[in-house]
Amino acid sequence: MLYPELFKQLEAVRWNLDTDIPWQSFDAACLSDEQAQTIKMNAITEWAALPATEMFLRDNRGDSDFSAFISVWFFEEQKHSLVLMEYLRRFRPELVPTEDELHAVRFEFDPAPALETLMLHFCGEIRLNHWYRRAAEWHTEPVIKAIYETLARDEARHGGAYLRYMKRALVRCGDEARTAFAKVGVLMASARRTAQALHPTNLHVNASLFPNDTVQSRLPDPAWLEAWLDRQIRFDADWEGRVVERILHNLGLLFGRSFANVQDLNRYRKELGRGAQPA
Ligand SMILES: [Fe+2]
Ligand SMILES: [Fe+2]
Repeated sequence: MLYPELFKQLEAVRWNLDTDIPWQSFDAACLSDEQAQTIKMNAITEWAALPATEMFLRDNRGDSDFSAFISVWFFEEQKHSLVLMEYLRRFRPELVPTEDELHAVRFEFDPAPALETLMLHFCGEIRLNHWYRRAAEWHTEPVIKAIYETLARDEARHGGAYLRYMKRALVRCGDEARTAFAKVGVLMASARRTAQALHPTNLHVNASLFPNDTVQSRLPDPAWLEAWLDRQIRFDADWEGRVVERILHNLGLLFGRSFANVQDLNRYRKELGRGAQPA
């Protein structure tokens, strides 16, 4: 079981919402309306860990170790939403999301293969780590900069925890896991983000609700994510390249191969599909 060790590791570095955020450093002159609005959207997006948790527990009924770990992940993601709401409560109370706005992102996700979802969320954590690092640079108000830096570190640790479960899956499921990870890896590392921001909250997850079946489509401002990435934090090709590099690097370590680019990974995926033993 990985859960006891992951619990211990994550608890050892856990930050305190009251005492580890430099609330007293707030500088009102450094917070624009535009920046405050974006914090509200991020607070609601983080709340989407709730439906994701319901999906994880449903699709991993046979895996009590992973399900137990999700209790830690869920707690930390809800805390991300909470710290952003606490920031707004203190400094822009009119922008605190309403309970209805939060509840709007709680909807059923269609069942999906657990291994693919695991890889999807691994890539999502890597991506969010980079988005939040950029957000910390873009924001000018010191407290929110510190909050985004704090969240970015948590997201990186979440990615590390998912990677542990991916390693375990390779031992247990072999090529079935390799195939699932390579498939989702190609998807998450290939499209230029100008086409579509590739994060779990921006993917369609319930065919019966289409097109309102992404978390982003259920925000008060469904166009927010693209504007945040393009015009605010300006997540450009260089940053996108860093995300892709981290995904390929980690999959390379996992598979004992080296992937210079997504085409390499796609070739490997096709070899797996043909049933050939990849060299
Ligand atoms: Fe988060
Ligand atoms: Fe996370």
